[in-house]
Amino acid sequence: MAGLLKLNVFLFFVLTGFFTTGLFYLAYTYTSTSHRYKERGFCLIVPKEHQENSLLQSPHGLSYNQPSVVGPDGKVVPLTPWLAPVVWEGTFDPTLIDSIYKQQNITIATTVFALGKYTQFLKDFLESAEQNYFVGLRVHYYVFTDHPEQVPAVKLSEEHHLTVLTVPSSNRWQEITLSRMARLEELIESRLVNEADYVFSLDVDTKFYGRWGAETLGRLVGVIHPGYYQTPREQYPYERRPESQAFIPSDEGDYYYGGAVIGGLVKDVHEIAKTCREQLDIDASKSIEAAWQEESHLNKYFLYNKPSKVLSPEYLWQDFKPHTDEVKIIRFSQVIKNYAAVRPNP
Ligand SMILES: *[C@@H]1O[C@H](CO)[C@@H](O)[C@H](O)[C@H]1NC(C)=O
Repeated sequence: MAGLLKLNVFLFFVLTGFFTTGLFYLAYTYTSTSHRYKERGFCLIVPKEHQENSLLQSPHGLSYNQPSVVGPDGKVVPLTPWLAPVVWEGTFDPTLIDSIYKQQNITIATTVFALGKYTQFLKDFLESAEQNYFVGLRVHYYVFTDHPEQVPAVKLSEEHHLTVLTVPSSNRWQEITLSRMARLEELIESRLVNEADYVFSLDVDTKFYGRWGAETLGRLVGVIHPGYYQTPREQYPYERRPESQAFIPSDEGDYYYGGAVIGGLVKDVHEIAKTCREQLDIDASKSIEAAWQEESHLNKYFLYNKPSKVLSPEYLWQDFKPHTDEVKIIRFSQVIKNYAAVRPNP
């Protein structure tokens, strides 16, 4: 009888033991799972850090070969040496890439500067953009002009909007060019941070001849200038005077980027505009004007802050340039203009 009681007590403790262990186990699993969820939640906040890591900054004075745009076999090169895509016809599917970005419900702000006689280019620019530029995606044009009454009434598609921003006139085209960065910086701070996801700043004396869609979107986007894509870098028209903030030594350089196209996320384009405006101000205080004004400063910026996407010369041509084998499609091109007729000074 006493033996049976002992056995019962023993069993009681064993079972209670199992039960408590079970409870501890459950409690442990529960906390560790919720921990894991918490950790996931934390990961969602991390992208800021990730974005900072994704800045592609490179040191000054680094020695490496100049990247080629066209290979020895005559084929175009679709990647930069820092593995950013170079966008050429055939490297993307237009339907697929537009559908992906359409789902993100993004707005692409597009700034153009049409001062003085440059308003004459607005009609062709806007009409051809409406046929080719981010068709089906949301676009907001911001037209800077000193002649708001000369902005043509162009019929815009449903998703496209236009705002005219009046600015004072200027007597020197160099000054107009130089103030563009400052105006872009201000516009981003005052409006685009709330109104857009991406920004493109485009030259107005241009025309679209082909599709320009979501394949051009990226964090930081530059275009290879059509005049220099097969030029040795020591012959690029970079600013070569060390006194200028735009100075690039003769043994450095990737591509010669065209100043007619600057693009990227609002925050990243703001950084370009702010940096270039500061460098332009320093130069101005020393009475130095870089060889190609803002284009020179942009080239310096892109050399040490690599674009995350590079547009091939399909995205910036010049109407007077004959077609070449490697450029299969001309999408955007500078129109032929009579400088004397459009510039306020020589
Ligand atoms: C898409 O974006 C627009 C403009 O930013 C906004 O008005 C609209 O509500 C958004 N639609 C969806 C489904 O999020």
